[in-house]
Amino acid sequence: PSSRVSLTVNGTRRTVTVDNRTSLLDLLREHLGLTGSKKGCNAGACGACTVLVDGERVNSCLTLAVRLDGAEITTIEGLAEDDRLHPLQQAFIDQDAFQCGYCTPGQILSGVGCIQEGHTGSPEEIREWMSGNICRCGCYVKIVRAVEQTAPRK
Ligand code: FES
Ligand code: FES
Repeated sequence: PSSRVSLTVNGTRRTVTVDNRTSLLDLLREHLGLTGSKKGCNAGACGACTVLVDGERVNSCLTLAVRLDGAEITTIEGLAEDDRLHPLQQAFIDQDAFQCGYCTPGQILSGVGCIQEGHTGSPEEIREWMSGNICRCGCYVKIVRAVEQTAPRK
C-alpha cells in the first residue's frame, strides 16, 4: 500500500505518494532528487543519512516517511542561505574536516544538531555527542574542531 505525505523540505512544501515502507532517506533521494543525504549502512549505524526533523537530528534511513506528515525537514541542500554557506559548512572547509566527503553531509547536520543541543562544552563532549557519525577516512579530530569553531563560546 502507498500513502500521500506532505512535508516541508528546506522551506518548500512537497507532497508525494510513496510506498508505506519508504524511508525518509529514500523519499529525499529517490522522490525529491535530494541526494546530499548519503546512504551508508541503511541500518542506523553510520549517521551518513542524518537530517533534521522538526529541528531534531535523526537517521533518515530508519525513519518511515509516512509517519512524518506535516514535519519540517532540513537537509544539507537547505543549510546555505543565498550564496552564503552555513557557518558549520564553512568551518568544515576552514578545518579541512573531510577527505572523501561521503560522511560529510551527515556530519554537518549532526553537528548543527549538536550545537543546538548545547553539547559543545569540550572536545570530549563534542566527540561523545557526534559518536553516531562514522568517518571511514578518520577525520574526527578536524570534525570536532569544526564544530568547536561554530559553537557559541560559553
Ligand atoms: Fe542511515 Fe547509516 S545510512 S545510519
Ligand atoms: Fe570520508 Fe568521512 S570524509 S568517510
